[in-house]
Amino acid sequence: MNRPKLAPSIMTADFTRLGEQVKQAIDAGVDRIHLDVMDGHFVPNISFGPLVAQSLRPACSIPLEAHLMISDADKYLDPFLEAGVDSVILHIEACPQIEMLIDRIHDRKKLAGITLNPATPLSAVEHLVTQVDLLLIMSVQPGFGGQSFLPGSLEKIKQARALINRLNPKCELEVDGGINLQTLAPAWQAGGEVFVVGSAVYNHKASVADNVRLLMDVSNAR
Ligand code: DX5
Ligand code: ZN
Repeated sequence: MNRPKLAPSIMTADFTRLGEQVKQAIDAGVDRIHLDVMDGHFVPNISFGPLVAQSLRPACSIPLEAHLMISDADKYLDPFLEAGVDSVILHIEACPQIEMLIDRIHDRKKLAGITLNPATPLSAVEHLVTQVDLLLIMSVQPGFGGQSFLPGSLEKIKQARALINRLNPKCELEVDGGINLQTLAPAWQAGGEVFVVGSAVYNHKASVADNVRLLMDVSNAR
């Protein structure tokens, strides 16, 4: 696919009409829906649990990915898998037994992803790249939507692209945080393939359809 894949995060969506907001993004042609799961412990914010994934599943004809920013992924992994998500993204900083969790995800025929905070070096996940389907680079400090893209992330995306090309070219490279009309193209040129877009899609400036079209135009302009 010669365009960036878009994965709207529902963190900044209008929760009073969540199903409708997700449908608007799907109708606009996005590639998957990103669920930011926060427990108020691993990150200083609380979002939602497996029940939201379960309720969105029937309304979502595209993949649902759960980004687990929680301290106890071991305990809550199965409820998310049972809720019907298609992939689960685990933080290396929160999962001492991450290989076991990756195996459990694969045993359920789902996709496994790993991610790391901005301050965590890529060397911390290098040994896992051959075992996963997705590597997600955090380009903001996890915990909130609407933050600015950390400039140092471009270099980390380039390094991650080189690592994936060397060890596991089938592994997708996703970027999460502060992706918008200014940062999408440079992050794509650095080697990213999939881009989480929260406040760039769900905001009061324009409709979901218009925001998605503008983001898609960025890649066409390249
Ligand atoms: C932050 C989350 C991101 C965030 C994206 O911890 O992992 O997915 O909600 O929102 P924007 O695109 O507004 O930075
Ligand atoms: Zn996220």
